[in-house]
Amino acid sequence: MPYYRVSGEIPRKRHTQFRRPDGGLYAEELMGEEGFSADSSLLYHVHPPTAIVKSEAVTGAPDESVLEPNHPLLPRHYRTQDLPVGGDLVLGRRPLMGNDDVRISLSVADAPSGLYRNSAGDEAVYLQEGSARFESVYGTIDAAAGDYVIVPRGTIHRWVPLATGLARALVVEARGHIRPPRRYLSATGQFLEHAPYCERDLRPADAPPLADGEDVPVIVRTRGGLTRLTYAYHPFDVVGWDGCLYPYAFNIYDYEPIVKRTHAPPPVHQTFEGPNFVICSFCPRPLDFDPQSVPIPYNHHNVDSDEMMFYVGGDYSARKGSGVGIGSVTLHPSGFTHGPTPGVAEAVIAAVAAGRNSTDETAVMIDTFRPLLLAESARSAEDPEYAWSWARAARS
Ligand SMILES: [Fe+2]
Repeated sequence: MPYYRVSGEIPRKRHTQFRRPDGGLYAEELMGEEGFSADSSLLYHVHPPTAIVKSEAVTGAPDESVLEPNHPLLPRHYRTQDLPVGGDLVLGRRPLMGNDDVRISLSVADAPSGLYRNSAGDEAVYLQEGSARFESVYGTIDAAAGDYVIVPRGTIHRWVPLATGLARALVVEARGHIRPPRRYLSATGQFLEHAPYCERDLRPADAPPLADGEDVPVIVRTRGGLTRLTYAYHPFDVVGWDGCLYPYAFNIYDYEPIVKRTHAPPPVHQTFEGPNFVICSFCPRPLDFDPQSVPIPYNHHNVDSDEMMFYVGGDYSARKGSGVGIGSVTLHPSGFTHGPTPGVAEAVIAAVAAGRNSTDETAVMIDTFRPLLLAESARSAEDPEYAWSWARAARS
């Protein structure tokens, strides 16, 4: 994150003696990106964060799935609402698609997760439905529908669904860092005036939770797979931290949409960037307002990217009649030109003439610059007729 925060108790100078009430030294832990050359935070633990007593491979987790090329090439539609319910927000992930840069999963959690650290990259967890508490060494965040929670690589945390029951989330696991787009930021990292959101819209973790315990298991994800590391002391023993690296939440409805007189392309919706991918938020907004505008997307072929769309709210006019609904995930890959359902443009133009001037569509889009492979675990939710929906409408 670009801006500096302090939480809990810290000494005036870094790397100086900071003592517990019993006289012993608190244990420093620097969480830093790119070696010692980028953002970091310095945490103060009651116990050494280095003390581990056991390491075991974790195999057979439900979140494992084979990824296969999208071959023969097809646009895809998955009804994620048909995927099985249950498990937790970490090991209950059901992969939909992925590549070497990013893995995208859906989780419908009905149980608290264990402690978890993703050491392969940052995560963005988009909560579609329900609510959940994110608890971490930095503090807790109460997440509700529409929240993206950005979890920096290496953050030990757990997810606890709240009383309302299921927490349904899209989980984006990057092989690197997920950040606000560079073009939104000043040279020193402040959000610029043209950015569609700013520091006030971000909800960082509050005071760190303190927990006692010994021999505490933490699931660690690395590129090699999952490991259960048992820590001698509970990792939630941080009394304070400061720095520019920490988890935070951003709600999709705090995104200020950018609208043009004629149709604006998806970069106006960009919310985050990751290694070789972007995350965009399509939010309720006024329709394009030129009297001659065609106020829905034009057909397009993103020759360098695959495009995944997760439909989370409102009525997505452009794909009317295709079977897409709330909870749908579509994949429009490079090699295929996609666009609105034939005939829909005239219908929206007529609606605008009759007085309609806004759209309530809400969607999360992820564009990847390398092809997305398909997860075997999503096959059961695939709509096999989706690929032909444009032709079906054109010929009707
Ligand atoms: Fe598109």
